[in-house]
Amino acid sequence: MSVSVELLRDNVEPEDVALFSTFTISATAWLLFSTAVGVLLSFKFPYPDWATNPALSFGRLRAIHTNDAFYGWASVALSGAALYVASRTSGIPVAGKRFAWGGLALFNIAAILGTITLDMGINNGDQEYREWVWWVTAVFLLAVIFTFTALLTTVAKRVEREIYISNWYTLGAFVFTILLGITAYIPVYQRGLGQVAVQAFYMHNAVGMWFTFLALGVTYYALPKLLNRPIYSYALGVLGFWTNLFFYPVIGAHHYEFTPLPWWFQTLAIVFSVGMLVPVWAGTGNFFLTMRWQWETVRRSYALPFIVVGVAYYFLGSTQGTVEALRSLQTIWHLTNYTVGHSHATMYGFITFIAWGAIYALLPRATGKRPPVLATGLHFWLATVGVTAYVVFLSVGGTEQGLAWAAGDPFIASVEAAAPYWAGRAVAGLFMFLAHVIFAYNVFMMTVGPSRESDRYERRPAPVQST
Ligand code: HEM
Repeated sequence: MSVSVELLRDNVEPEDVALFSTFTISATAWLLFSTAVGVLLSFKFPYPDWATNPALSFGRLRAIHTNDAFYGWASVALSGAALYVASRTSGIPVAGKRFAWGGLALFNIAAILGTITLDMGINNGDQEYREWVWWVTAVFLLAVIFTFTALLTTVAKRVEREIYISNWYTLGAFVFTILLGITAYIPVYQRGLGQVAVQAFYMHNAVGMWFTFLALGVTYYALPKLLNRPIYSYALGVLGFWTNLFFYPVIGAHHYEFTPLPWWFQTLAIVFSVGMLVPVWAGTGNFFLTMRWQWETVRRSYALPFIVVGVAYYFLGSTQGTVEALRSLQTIWHLTNYTVGHSHATMYGFITFIAWGAIYALLPRATGKRPPVLATGLHFWLATVGVTAYVVFLSVGGTEQGLAWAAGDPFIASVEAAAPYWAGRAVAGLFMFLAHVIFAYNVFMMTVGPSRESDRYERRPAPVQST
């Protein structure tokens, strides 16, 4: 009888196990908190008179939800996985561990300070995803710099000759994000049209150069590892890397079509949004071709179904972004809930599912403890059904909203049209939140929970093997 590749345990030193586990536990706490806030926000649409205290107001809680989901959950979960991947592919334990631990502490301090200040009404104005005041973002950037130092030191000290493609992506993510964070807070760019241009640059690159690069980097390691076969094409991975770097930085202005930003600048953003099809299709094509004829392995795996959904949402959500950028469609969808559906297709369907896939793939290999089968299945289905319903409700509701505005109907008509979809989104959000509670239980079982004989991974006999 053949043993599933997922039963093999990596040879990891205990401090690296503790590091990866603590990054994941901390990220999971922020996932629970930020999405509990998301559920509360969802119910404010059907029940607007509910919880109207300023500290619980929509404006303050919305920024808390987005910033904590971004910087407390996704950033920390993917940084922990990136460090683990760097160590496995470099053939050495994580180097510069003090920086890694310091980075984790700073990520948490930033998210705590950010939550408190936002809830007190202290913020950077309506600058989406950079509502944190500059000194809170400075703490976050320090966290990024500390974690980057550990990542870079690990790769620099590698015993393998090549720098594996995963590390190109993850190192790229850190370098770009440090530059991005500094640029976004330069005082001269904080007013007038310069502010709008920098906001476009910041908000989209936080998604495209930070989360996307981190998620692709860990997928390039986890996917071949789980399937026990090499990635379909290294060249497609390199093509995706450079074309993402070329096209992404300019596309943010597609959020500001029909604004006073120069028309040519908006057009450039649209043209480059079409160009984004190259890295997206290169990446997703590469991943699906790596999975070809392996559906039985996918079905038997804990982690692969999450990666399949993540890659599918990467393809769908990003291709949707290209289409959505066209001016003819922005006339309907601009400022509607359609965009919120798109954000959750990408940040949840793609980024969050890949983070889960990477955690289920790699954490048990480090700790030797598998998650319970039933709970993992429940997590997968509740989250998949939840996010799909969320996206469908807001895509349809947002289109109805936009059509009502375009027809010149009274504003209340668009509210009435969207109301049933908002109620549906709140129920979908409950499914997603329940999935997160189950995930938290699974993280407990994979880390500090009791060691169960039946679920223990077999220790890999040979030393570290890089993909
Ligand atoms: C239980 C799961 C979740 C629920 C119920 C939820 C709910 C919400 C709600 C109600 C909003 C405000 C929408 C509006 O202003 O009309 C929102 C915005 C947002 N959420 Fe979530 N959310 C969830 C999970 C997540 C996760 C995990 C992420 C990212 C990792 C995320 C990222 C965002 C973003 C980026 C926005 C801003 C959307 C935009 O303006 O385009 N959400 N969410």
